Amino acid sequence: MRILVLGSGAREHAIITSLLSENAGHEITAAPGNAGIAAAVPVVALDPTNGNVVAGYAIDNEIELVIIGPEAPLVAGVADKLRTRGIAVFGPSKAAAALEGSKTFAKRIMDEAGVPTGRATRAGTLVEAETAIDEYGAPYVVKADGLAAGKGVLVTPDRMAALEHAEYWLQHGSVLVEEFLAGQEVSLFLLSDGHNVVPLSPAQDYKRAYDRDEGPNTGGMGAYSPLPWLPEGFVDEVIDTIALPTIRQLAAEQKPFIGLLYCGLILTSRGIRVIEFNARFGDPETQVVLPRLVTPLSGLLYAAATGGLGSQPYPKFSDEVAVTVVLASEGYPENPITGRPITGLDAVRDVTVAHAATANADGGFIATGGRVLSVVALGDTFAAARVKAYAALEHIHLEGSHYRTDIAERVA
Ligand code: AMP
Ligand code: GLY
Repeated sequence: MRILVLGSGAREHAIITSLLSENAGHEITAAPGNAGIAAAVPVVALDPTNGNVVAGYAIDNEIELVIIGPEAPLVAGVADKLRTRGIAVFGPSKAAAALEGSKTFAKRIMDEAGVPTGRATRAGTLVEAETAIDEYGAPYVVKADGLAAGKGVLVTPDRMAALEHAEYWLQHGSVLVEEFLAGQEVSLFLLSDGHNVVPLSPAQDYKRAYDRDEGPNTGGMGAYSPLPWLPEGFVDEVIDTIALPTIRQLAAEQKPFIGLLYCGLILTSRGIRVIEFNARFGDPETQVVLPRLVTPLSGLLYAAATGGLGSQPYPKFSDEVAVTVVLASEGYPENPITGRPITGLDAVRDVTVAHAATANADGGFIATGGRVLSVVALGDTFAAARVKAYAALEHIHLEGSHYRTDIAERVA
């Protein structure tokens, strides 16, 4: 198949690695990609958020499937432009992607569909935010309503910090004040063709920057899959009480969701609750879910894109487990320092390295963003996979960089 993958992160690198592992002769192009992706497939320098440019490229190059990795092109309506021109695309319309792009929209859909989630109050002024903050009490949860690249959410015991966060994000729109939910977090990805859903294997992401869940929230510092501690029937319960009601509500509103429904969940003492939906594969969870996928990814994504998921059996996953550890630049997440050389990649063994933010310079690689690399290890046990991942990281050098040392420790 001729496939175009939009995006430039480790998630897209992992998607491409999975497509290549099918050995099906796919012709894959990435736009814009990164240096790691460019070592695997051709890349083109086009703006992935410009729907007309992407559609023009896809038509000129007879692309049979476009896979949209990040949220920005979705929220910009790139999938709509492609669908209007008859191109198969894995990624929801602008209207359906509001499930991620607007927390207020997501809360309304959940309310209408009866999906279990935390109580939340939308505030448009600081006075409204303060009232809600005091009503819910500590720990405080304050979220920017729109896309904020992982920086919009603050969970804190500090009332002043909660107010300051609300004040800052109110300059950009409304904020949501939420009830704090305690419990283990689960990321569950489901493919949807607008009507049917097919689950992938659950994963857990580590959102905080430092060991023992200290420090600020990030895009994700590591992940593992599967989750051996999940109660039996968990995935079926999520399908029945969360994913299908959400997909049906969107379809009933003429906003069919075609793409990846990412359910960000907390397993509380009172049951499963949604903390957020995303409209795309998660990063770094994709790096631990896809290497375990046995069913060819291209067939699943094409079936979702073309309304054919109903006839697909659930995807199969290998018994191996996967761990990924993210290497981040000095200063990430606040002010990452970029442009520094990365060395030692030639020396790593027994892992795959998904590039998140790299470019070529002087015959080697340099870091171009906050999350730089995602080291992925498979193993028969989490302990074995951890050993491989952390051994590889010892070989990789990026001045000032940091990574968490406790990824998957709780299951090893
Ligand atoms: P979000 O971007 O909405 O996924 O939030 C980022 C992170 O903040 C989540 O992964 C959780 O760790 C935490 N979080 C968000 N909402 C809540 C909540 N209501 N209760 C507890 N933690 C939360
Ligand atoms: N790992 C969290 C996300 O992709 O949003």
